[in-house]
Amino acid sequence: MVSRYLVPGLIVCTIFVVPALGQKGGNATPAAAKKADSGQAPSEQGQAAKAPKGLKGAYVGKFLIGAAGDLRGYSDSELANIKANYDILTPENCMKPQPIHPSEDRYSWRTPDALVKWCQDNDIKVWGHTLLWHAQTGRWFFRPGADGQPVTRELAMARLKDHIMTVVGRYKGRVLGWDVVNEAISDRGSGKTENLRNFGWYRQIGPDVLTLAFKWAHEADPKAELYYNDYGIESGAVKNTGKHASSMLLLKRLIAEGAPIHGVGIQGHWHLDTNLADVEKAITNYASLGLKVCISELDVTASGSNTGAFPRRWGRRAPISAEALEKQAQFYAKLFALFKRHSDAISRVTFWGISDRRSWRSRQSPLVFDAQLEPKPAYQAILDVGLGKKKSAKP
Ligand code: GLA
Repeated sequence: MVSRYLVPGLIVCTIFVVPALGQKGGNATPAAAKKADSGQAPSEQGQAAKAPKGLKGAYVGKFLIGAAGDLRGYSDSELANIKANYDILTPENCMKPQPIHPSEDRYSWRTPDALVKWCQDNDIKVWGHTLLWHAQTGRWFFRPGADGQPVTRELAMARLKDHIMTVVGRYKGRVLGWDVVNEAISDRGSGKTENLRNFGWYRQIGPDVLTLAFKWAHEADPKAELYYNDYGIESGAVKNTGKHASSMLLLKRLIAEGAPIHGVGIQGHWHLDTNLADVEKAITNYASLGLKVCISELDVTASGSNTGAFPRRWGRRAPISAEALEKQAQFYAKLFALFKRHSDAISRVTFWGISDRRSWRSRQSPLVFDAQLEPKPAYQAILDVGLGKKKSAKP
């Protein structure tokens, strides 16, 4: 399997300015938000007639539809595409620990501030990504302090708390919620333990660092929705093994420790052979813990069965056949039919990018708009499912 981080698509961020408007949506429960959006459950026919166009219009009253991007350098047509299709935007890179806080005494606000302002000006919500992660995190967090001594648990905690309070505090009321912890679980475990990654924060502070991160984020913005986010955590759900079983152990512990956690993000970096029975079972398992579920980074490769990206040295994007596009469309249709069946549990479905050009997996054509921003067959298939024009396909 190709490493997930061979081509991390390190898009650098910048531009725009800061705003001071209130974020619509707050931390209303997804159920309440649905009511507010749609009044009472409309018939699919009625909904189709009233709905705005675009992806978000097809899922009004079901769940938010999102995309990821940093907006820097986006063309007018790309920005128009975002306005037409998405309720909410996740900054792909510019709010990650390293880009936003490159050194202890320096934050880099330009790109995230500009993104938040543009979203507010255009009535698009923002989802914060991410506060605690093993990747794209400055090494300075773990360097000796002013006394030159190796970093202590106390110093590591002080640095992390300061980071979370500053970043979450800056966007308080303007960001709907946060991926507080990203990817804390290792791959290939049996599922008998939490199988946490042996990463810097864990080594410096211990397993309670995850709960602390949730508590600090809540302190900084008590109304923000706070999620645990990871990839592959659906895997093993039907048999309750592997990474899914580990995620259930971890989430139960976080809840028991009093972490203010509201939901789980299943990243959804999938391919045509992804096991949909596992996806469905994972959604119901998380809902049984009283948590909301979102699909936080959806993309489905049209070629290659891995959860990461093809490396650059494998060359340019291969032309994609009509048959492959059709298979991808069918898979997306099944996925969205599944999401629709579980719309009570699902708060949001976010695509990880707006087009195959703006994708960390661009060589595998994973999104619903092509590199020229033209809709692919998957786009129409997803609209049809949302608007009830096709029978819901069972996995
Ligand atoms: C993970 C992260 C994302 C992004 C992708 C690759 O899924 O959560 O922020 O880095 O990897 O783009």
